[in-house]
Parts: sequence; structure tokens; C-alpha cells
Amino acid sequence: MYRLVTNSNIDLSFPEKLIEATRAHSRSNPVLPSNFGKTYVRILFIGDIFGRPGRTIVKDRLSALVKEHAIDLVLANGENAAAGFGITPPLAEDLFEMGIDVLTTGNHIWDKREIIDYFNSADGNPHSPARRVLRPANYPPGMPGWGLYEGSKGDVPYAVINLQGRVFMASNDDPFRVADQLLKEIKAKVIFVDVHAEATSEKKSLGWYLDGRVTVVVGTHTHVPTADEQVLPGGTAYITDVGMTGPYDSVIGVKKELIVGKFLSNMPTRFEAATGDVRLCAVVVDCDERTGRARDITRLMVRY
Ligand SMILES: [Fe+2]
Ligand SMILES: [Fe+2]
Repeated sequence: MYRLVTNSNIDLSFPEKLIEATRAHSRSNPVLPSNFGKTYVRILFIGDIFGRPGRTIVKDRLSALVKEHAIDLVLANGENAAAGFGITPPLAEDLFEMGIDVLTTGNHIWDKREIIDYFNSADGNPHSPARRVLRPANYPPGMPGWGLYEGSKGDVPYAVINLQGRVFMASNDDPFRVADQLLKEIKAKVIFVDVHAEATSEKKSLGWYLDGRVTVVVGTHTHVPTADEQVLPGGTAYITDVGMTGPYDSVIGVKKELIVGKFLSNMPTRFEAATGDVRLCAVVVDCDERTGRARDITRLMVRY
């Protein structure tokens, strides 16, 4: 048993204040366990991991980030992990080995065909590595894979939803109504949504539509970080695009001269991953595990 030492200025009439007072005391008294009174969950989400440069900076920096920000749950978008185009089963498992709990993806999910056999290998196991790679939930019914993962970290249940936009992208099912359907079956309070979409308007709209019903809505796909992170009035943390984790001396990850050449010539071009100015882009979201409401969202950009 630990006796809480307080001073007379601290109002203990609200449990939240009691918890804060306990945390403050815990920081100055190493005898108390560091997680005493903890009711929040910290989520790190890493934006589209692009090719070997992206995978390498995650490998080099993830464990320090987890320690520095006291992260409980690590999520990432891995749709570009294989030289910019899709993800293979061994690369997914490498990323899990680095400490990522669940991988979301997007329009590049089918670029490496072996991902289909990987999805089929999950074989009903709800927590196998193959089951922890998601593809957008609003793809046509019957496609391989899943767009929702439900798990728990420690004793905190959580859910991850992957959606894809329809503006300037393939015409999949309606992501708004697919989200409604999924939310009917999810029991967890902590719910993370990756909206993989081209149009800022579509991502913003999904953020507002889901405000108060999920913990986090992040945008991915455009590979350029936006500076609009905020907690919406209903308690949903939001950002339009987390940004790519990969080479920024590029056009969204690809060698810039190839893309500029394609704009000039309009000829088919074989894309190659760039290598320079590698950065890791991510957000940290602090949320209350009892309500699923976000308290804070912080944007990170880590460079070598
Ligand atoms: Fe991407
Ligand atoms: Fe994408």
C-alpha cells in the first residue's frame, strides 16, 4: 500500500485530480510504480513506411520513441514497405518484430500478390501476424483480408479500422457507411481509424463524421504531412495526413527526376524508390482508456 502525500492546495474532490496528484508525486518519489493511477493510453502511429529507407529509420528510431513518449500501442501504415509498392509477408513480420502491433495499408495492398496467400494463412486465428495486416474495409465484399482488427494491449481493448477514400481513387464502397457498420460491432472504447485518401476534403469530412464515436482519425496516402492536428469537440484526435516515413529528397518517395520526367514527357515510367533525406513522420495520441476520448495529439518528424 502507498500513502498519497499531498499538500493542502490540491483539491482531491475529483478522481482525475487525485490521479494527477498521484502522478506528480510518483515522478518525485521513485518508490511508487511509474504507472500508478494510469488511465490513459498513448498511441504512436507512423505514416506510410516507404521502402528500405523507411523501414530502416523505423528500425533505428522506434524503440527510443516508444521509451521517450511512454507509448503503449504502435500502429503504422505499411502499404509502401516493399520499395514503395505494397508489402510482402516477410517485410510485415520484420515490422512487427520492430515493435509495431498492427499495420494498415491502402491502394497499394495488392502490388505484391503474395499478400493474398498471407491473408489466407490467418486461417481463423484472430491475432496471427497475417490478421494484423489490414486492407481498407470498404473494398468489395469477399476480397481477401480484413479492414478491422480488434485486440488488446495489456488489459486495454482496442480496435483499428482501415478505410480508403473514393475521391480521385478507385470507386470502392462508401467509407462513411462502412465505418457506421463496423462501429456497431466494436466493443472497445479505444478505436483508431486510418483514412487512406487523396482528397483533404474527404478526410476532413470523415474526421467530423466520426467525431465522438472513435478515438483517432488519421489521414494517410498523400505522403505530405499536414499541420492541422487537433482534438475535435467530441474527443476525436484528427490530422489530415501524417506524412510519409521515407526519403523526402523525392516526389512522395520516388526518385524526383523520374517523376519530373514523367510530367514532362507523359511517357510510361518505371518508378524507383529514392534514398535521400530520410524522415520518420508520426503522431502520438494520448487518450483516456475508460472513455476512448483523445486528450492530445502531437505531430512528430524525426530526421537522422
Ligand atoms: Fe502511401
Ligand atoms: Fe496510398
